[in-house]
Amino acid sequence: MDITNKYLNLIDLNDYPVDWWLSLLERAHGIISEPEKYMESCKGKIMGTLFYEPSTRTQMSFQTAMLRLGGTIIGFDNPATSSVAKGENLKDTTKIVSGYADIMVMRHPLAGSVKAAALTAECPVINAGDGGHLHPTQTLTDLLTLKEEKGTLEGLTIGLCGDLKNGRTVHSLIKAMSCFKNNRFILISTKELSLPVYIKDILSASGLDFKEVQSLDDAMPELDVLYMTRIQQERFASKEDYLAQKGFYILDRKKLEAAKHDLVVLHPLPRVDEIAMEVDDDERALYFKQAKYGMYVRMALILTMLESKDKGRSLPLVIGRKHKGISCSNPGCITNHELYLPRYFKGNESLLVCEYCDERRLV
Ligand code: NCD
Repeated sequence: MDITNKYLNLIDLNDYPVDWWLSLLERAHGIISEPEKYMESCKGKIMGTLFYEPSTRTQMSFQTAMLRLGGTIIGFDNPATSSVAKGENLKDTTKIVSGYADIMVMRHPLAGSVKAAALTAECPVINAGDGGHLHPTQTLTDLLTLKEEKGTLEGLTIGLCGDLKNGRTVHSLIKAMSCFKNNRFILISTKELSLPVYIKDILSASGLDFKEVQSLDDAMPELDVLYMTRIQQERFASKEDYLAQKGFYILDRKKLEAAKHDLVVLHPLPRVDEIAMEVDDDERALYFKQAKYGMYVRMALILTMLESKDKGRSLPLVIGRKHKGISCSNPGCITNHELYLPRYFKGNESLLVCEYCDERRLV
């Protein structure tokens, strides 16, 4: 199996230098100013969207982005209506679709699944969310929103609140924002839903200040950005475990009284109950605008990735070593479900890090 795929894929934003992210934001800014200039940029190109998990914004913003660029789309949003229902494996489905399309966007409930698909895909692949792991294009959306609305990606005190354990948007956003100077992070969650250790290690390595707290009220006056998230019901082992966490954080008008006047409230959406609807009228509530920025940044991304396909550029997909006898200890990792996949791990003799899902394993 090839370790370097021929195409430029977007699996994890941090595979690319910060300058590349910033060039996408700049390109998106240009598209916002003159959208009509791009109406035929992808004429004749086809995007495949494979959504193995529910989605509204990500799927439709990708589709709209391609249509606004003059391209067309194929795909499914319900694997039950595709050959997946007949037992087709991930490799076969994605290899076929990637042979039909010029670019493929994929969301899947298992961590590392999009990387697994990219190993054998025949076109560039974009990660639209792989289990509780990463969601790089939501992060591009968040970065564009902050750049446009705050004017900077540096020197911000960022509160992230809710399901920090399972929220893939949180993981990707922290990884990205820890690359900019003087940002501070306040991680607001219950003990049960605190940030995974590997993301905390990234924060520690960045040298930036961060703290873990339980009270949203106490954190509120310090924040420049409040990133609210829903409790990710579908990632819980049982309904009881979910119900024990549900409703713990609810942002309402009263809580916002203690906030800065130029706070921005973001949320990747969908909202369940963590932001009261009365907050929608507060001018600091930017989550609907944020969703719209997502379409523009995805236009910039599609254009850039299709250009790179034409130029034949690529990046290594796997940098770790193959381990035949060892499996990943994360039950939600794709390698524990699609058993033909080679097991690759980064790290050293005592600590192995799964190439697909970043789970660590002591040996
Ligand atoms: C998020 C996701 O799918 O991870 N939604 C999105 O893509 N905008 C957040 C969520 O589902 O809670």
